[in-house]
Amino acid sequence: MPVRFCVLVSGGGTNLQAILDALDAGVIKSAQIAAVVSNNPGAYALTRARNHGVETAVISPKSYETRDDFHDALLEKLVSLDVRLVVLAGFMVTLPPQVIRAFPGRILNVHPSLIPSFCGVGCYGLRVHEMALARGVKVTGATVHVVDEGVDSGPILLQKAVEVHGGDTPETLQRRVMEEAEWVLLPRAIEMVAAGMQP
Ligand code: GAR
Repeated sequence: MPVRFCVLVSGGGTNLQAILDALDAGVIKSAQIAAVVSNNPGAYALTRARNHGVETAVISPKSYETRDDFHDALLEKLVSLDVRLVVLAGFMVTLPPQVIRAFPGRILNVHPSLIPSFCGVGCYGLRVHEMALARGVKVTGATVHVVDEGVDSGPILLQKAVEVHGGDTPETLQRRVMEEAEWVLLPRAIEMVAAGMQP
């Protein structure tokens, strides 16, 4: 039985697209996508999901009076989807402990650097590449890790190095890290973990 998983997104969703393509291509064969959930109703990732016939849901913090209410609604949604695996693909919300505890060892995240470089509080999206360029590293990359209650601190599953080029801007570096590392690693990690969850 394929493992049901959902993908949490906040933005453009190129990593989600890589997952959808990997499902189509049979690169992911031990898991099936149940839904895509976003905190941001304007996320283009939602359009990518709909175009692919995947159920979508929006749980926006703006719809709730308190952060706790938002967290409760997110957890309720994930539980109601009856998924065994949760994949963060550019999800820019820190998951609360109750969500992490509900899926122990079963939440994956992709981060656009070689952890432990350029990770932790305040390191996300384009900022990670700005920091890498400012530090002058010659090699960066991406990491897929299991989410624990810290920030980018859970066990590392896969990493891939990517060269920094002389004329790189944060945008060109981000694109290369996505193409060469993130879009390859995330589908591979999903298949690896799902295959390991088979009875
Ligand atoms: C990706 O580069 C992902 O690694 C990063 O946000 C981008 C989302 O792009 N995530 C983080 O920085 C998490 N700390 P996408 O919406 O096109 O997949």
